Amino acid sequence: MTNHKRPSVYIVTGTTRGIGRAMAEEILRRGHRLFSLSRAPDTVTQGWRNYRCDLRDAEKIQVAMIRLLDEIPHEACGDAILLNNAGVLTPIGPLERNDWAGMAAALQVNLMAPMQLMSLFIQAAARFQGSRRIINITSGAGRHPYAGWGLYCTAKSALNMLTRCIALEQRGRSRPVTICAVAPGVVATDMQADIHRADDIDFPERQRFLRLAESGGLLAPEDVARLILDLDLAGQFQSGQIYDLRHATWSEGRPVITALKENG
Ligand SMILES: NC(=O)c1ccc[n+]([C@@H]2O[C@H](COP(=O)([O-])OP(=O)(O)OC[C@H]3O[C@@H](n4cnc5c(N)ncnc54)[C@H](OP(=O)(O)O)[C@@H]3O)[C@@H](O)[C@H]2O)c1
Repeated sequence: MTNHKRPSVYIVTGTTRGIGRAMAEEILRRGHRLFSLSRAPDTVTQGWRNYRCDLRDAEKIQVAMIRLLDEIPHEACGDAILLNNAGVLTPIGPLERNDWAGMAAALQVNLMAPMQLMSLFIQAAARFQGSRRIINITSGAGRHPYAGWGLYCTAKSALNMLTRCIALEQRGRSRPVTICAVAPGVVATDMQADIHRADDIDFPERQRFLRLAESGGLLAPEDVARLILDLDLAGQFQSGQIYDLRHATWSEGRPVITALKENG
């Protein structure tokens, strides 16, 4: 029998490298449609359209996301998933050593950009025939404070709270947009290189992260990307919940994960 299920459409930020790049490749490998916002040039390839967008610039985000949402062939697509992946750990260091421009950029990319994209996605949600889901890539740093990562921890913590608020806003609607946040664990990407390059004075826990990398303790971005997509497809992500991928296990060939406790 022919499978008439329409491909899902994924909107992913930060697909140039790291987890976002691995997500993009996995989404295409599974035969879905990919629309991305990244600082790479505008491109259209088989199944993948990229919109050049610097997420530090709110006006550019507005223009690019509205164009992206208009150009999705809604009638040919099933479920729609917004994956807020792009993020920056820098600037690293105690607050008084960060300049205003660095502080603003960190908050803009890690918090304000996802906030703006979620708002536009929810506004456009009625156009999508299938389910509409948002997955925010958060971090353990959104729940655990680290000296030297104040900007990053603050942004991810606020992203977690915004995730929970949006879930409440959507609850009870006839076709709610569902939303969750997922911390990927410690992953072998350029973000870890940023940590390794940092000064011990700016980031006192740097040695611990170095040792983890040296002992082969980092996750591969490809494995992380596959697991997030699999958990989502398996219906494991409950709206309003925050997850840590390190709590994922497999049971009877299916990935399972339990949400983190609110204050745990
Ligand atoms: N790696 C980890 O251990 C780890 C742990 C916890 C959470 N995370 C989270 O996972 C997500 C992905 O991180 P990663 O490890 O894959 O990091 P990464 O390798 O450094 O990649 C970051 C991505 O974000 C994009 N980005 C950064 N600033 C941008 C901007 N102004 N405009 C557009 N795109 C921008 C980068 O694009 P450019 O190439 O244009 O810079 C790149 O595609 C982030 O949200 C991060 O906080 C990672």
